[in-house]
Amino acid sequence: MIPIASPIIEDDEIREVVKVLRSGFLAQGPKVEEFEKAFADYTNSEYAVATSSGTTALHVALSAAGVGKGDEVITTPFSFAATANAALYVGARPVFVDIDPLTYNIDPERIEDAITEDTKAIIVVHLYGQPAEMNHIIDIGEDHGLIVIEDAAQAHGALYHKKKVGSLGDIGCFSFYPTKNITTGEGGMITTDDEDIAHLARMIRSHGESERYEHVILGYNFRMTDIAAAIGIVQLKKLDKFNSKRIENAKYLTENLKDFEHITTPYVMDDVKHVFHQYTVRVENREKWIEHFKREGIGTGVYYPKPIYRQPLYEDLGLGVSCPEAEKASGEVLSLPVHPSLGVEELDRIIDAVENFQI
Ligand SMILES: Cc1ncc(COP(=O)(O)O)c(C=O)c1O
Repeated sequence: MIPIASPIIEDDEIREVVKVLRSGFLAQGPKVEEFEKAFADYTNSEYAVATSSGTTALHVALSAAGVGKGDEVITTPFSFAATANAALYVGARPVFVDIDPLTYNIDPERIEDAITEDTKAIIVVHLYGQPAEMNHIIDIGEDHGLIVIEDAAQAHGALYHKKKVGSLGDIGCFSFYPTKNITTGEGGMITTDDEDIAHLARMIRSHGESERYEHVILGYNFRMTDIAAAIGIVQLKKLDKFNSKRIENAKYLTENLKDFEHITTPYVMDDVKHVFHQYTVRVENREKWIEHFKREGIGTGVYYPKPIYRQPLYEDLGLGVSCPEAEKASGEVLSLPVHPSLGVEELDRIIDAVENFQI
């Protein structure tokens, strides 16, 4: 079976974890600090603050930016639920804006219509590893005094007009879940150039402490462990190599699949580096395709089968809206394996399977 995702953990990650285990420093310590410095450098950000997951990074980011009860947060309905859940955690209301059907990212043209006097922030997602249209979104943020947060959980190392994602908006949030472009097991990271936000984020992730046992604001235990950070430091050094392989694999798939009538290959914007967290095509009769790939020993994924506002939680909260492009995409998208462990032989099997498909 060719899996849809496969984390690459080698001897050097294992060695570094063993060192931490022997050091006795298991929770947040010097390795977390080292990982934060390396990640800030990599993303060209002034500050990086490590967290326990991508979800807690988003939660901390909104809290540190002062978003709370009664505020509205504009975001995309076509993402993992964590993106919008973060608004709920801080008592804010997620407001969903439809996507661009080519990139699957929030459509900047539709954002201004959704702004009200309660709007405080925009969370954009760089879905599947392709940056959102940031220049337009940052302009809107500046015109309306809104905080722009990048959910870069799927886009480590992606470039928008030569700039790293995570350094474009006011705050960037990353995830190191095992399927992501790099992993720490579980883990997350906040990036920002704003000293106050970084300072608040550090406090919020650790019980709101200004110093040991001095709890100034309400915080949580959202810390990363040194065990996770040790893996992250090694993985970060390999990120560009992993991404190059993903891009090479995606190019090979597109070259060989673009002429098939029943499959629409991914669109890549000009002047971006799309890091292909997912290689996502559009198809009709998706269930039939999934069954076919399964028979051929090829894993697939559907990211995501419904817009977030169609989740029962969101319907119960009365947050259901209608975003036709997100609805259409959620019925048609299908992700095929593209991860860096794949070689030409596996990619050819995927291409052959498309060729063999009977409508
Ligand atoms: C777009 C997006 N946002 C947020 C998250 C949450 O990250 P985590 O699973 O590390 O909490 C994920 C990943 O699962 C994601 O894909």
